[in-house]
Order: sequence, then C-alpha cells, then structure tokens
Amino acid sequence: MQIAVDGPAGSGKSTIAKKIAEYLNITYIDTGAMYRALTYKVLANNVNVRDEDAIIKLAQESDIRFFLGDVYLDDKIVNEEIRLPEVNKSVSYVAKIPQVRRILVDTQKKIALGQDVVMDGRDIGTHVLDNADLKIFLTATVEQRSYRRYKELKDKGFNVNLDDVKKDIINRDKIDRERKFSPLAKADDAVVIDTTDLSVEDVMNKIVSILEEGK
Ligand code: DC
Repeated sequence: MQIAVDGPAGSGKSTIAKKIAEYLNITYIDTGAMYRALTYKVLANNVNVRDEDAIIKLAQESDIRFFLGDVYLDDKIVNEEIRLPEVNKSVSYVAKIPQVRRILVDTQKKIALGQDVVMDGRDIGTHVLDNADLKIFLTATVEQRSYRRYKELKDKGFNVNLDDVKKDIINRDKIDRERKFSPLAKADDAVVIDTTDLSVEDVMNKIVSILEEGK
C-alpha cells in the first residue's frame, strides 16, 4: 500500500498523512523533513543558499534518515532545528536544485520499496510514488495556510508576525510551483480536498471513506 499526500505549505499534509499512517498502521515519511535537514546543514555550515555546487556536495556527503519517528542528520536528531524560521525561508532554494532532488528522491524511493508507506511532500504523486494506490492533493486558501503556520510557530514560542509568515509562504509556494524539476503539482489521478473550512476529523472522514470504497 502506497499513499501520496501532496499540497502547498500549510495545507495540512503532515497532520493528515500522519493520521492516515496511524489508521492503516503503516509507516509515515515526511519528505519535506529531508529537504529541511539538508537546509539546516547548509545554514549551519554558513553555505550560501544560492551556492548550488556547495549544496550538492553537502547533499552527497549527508546521511538523512528516519528512525522511530525522529529525523536524523548524520546521526544527530534534528526534529526541532529543521522547523526554525530560517529554515522555512531557505528550504525552497535548496529543494529546487535538480541534483539535490535526485539524491533525496532516490532515498525516498528506496524507503518506499520494502514497506507500506504514506509519504507527504510536493512531488510524491507525480514523481516519487507515481504508481501510488491513492493520491491526495490538499489545498487551502493562502490566508488559512498562513494562519496555521503562524499559530504553529507562535505555539513553539517564536516571535513571528502573521504578515511575514504569509510572505514566506507565498514566496515558497511560488518557487516550489515554478521550479523546472519536479515542481509542486497535482497528479492527474489525485483526489483534491480543500481543507480551508474542514477540521482534521472532517478531512480524515473523507479519506477513510475513499479507502473503504477502494476495498
Ligand atoms: O512540507 P514542508 O513545508 O516541510 O516542506 C519544506 C520544503 O521542502 C518545501 O517548501 C518544498 C520542499 N519539498 C519539496 O520540494 N519536495 C518534497 N517532496 C517535499 C518538500
């Protein structure tokens, strides 16, 4: 069983993908965390986010893995660091480098080979798991998505303002949608769910009924 969950920033992908994985008792893979871990390493090494050659070299040397729900970067757990506002701002520049994507997509495909997975990201239905059993594309208005991210950051104690978060999200979506190599896009066979006015439970009810229909 392979399930792809794609959509723009703040559309609810990780919350929903995690719930689907719990419901089916299968593995959840947050592919955004992999691009984030590499971006964190780029920033920690004072590499410029426009220096593609240096970033590709870091990607080749890095070991980014998941183990028991934690994200590992070269044997260090980086769950918190990868959610920093600086990482949010830079991650799309790192993720648009084709060679970086080849390396990380290759790892993602290997992870999915031997097991049932729910993967969330931007290009899962179109590129990583193009034969997935179910493809879901989540959307929501930019206002709603910005508010969700803003609240998430506030709850973690970051001093952010809603306007900045919204600008970040708009910029990130633009780069993610417009990049040449595997951009953020809906697969032709994906089911679209607009989560703007839906609770997590509402979205899950829809997905559970799709899964039940498919049995
Ligand atoms: O889902 P997220 O916000 O954690 O993703 C962080 C960034 O990583 C996002 O702006 C684009 C990139 N990304 C990607 O290009 N492809 C994926 N499959 C997942 C994330």
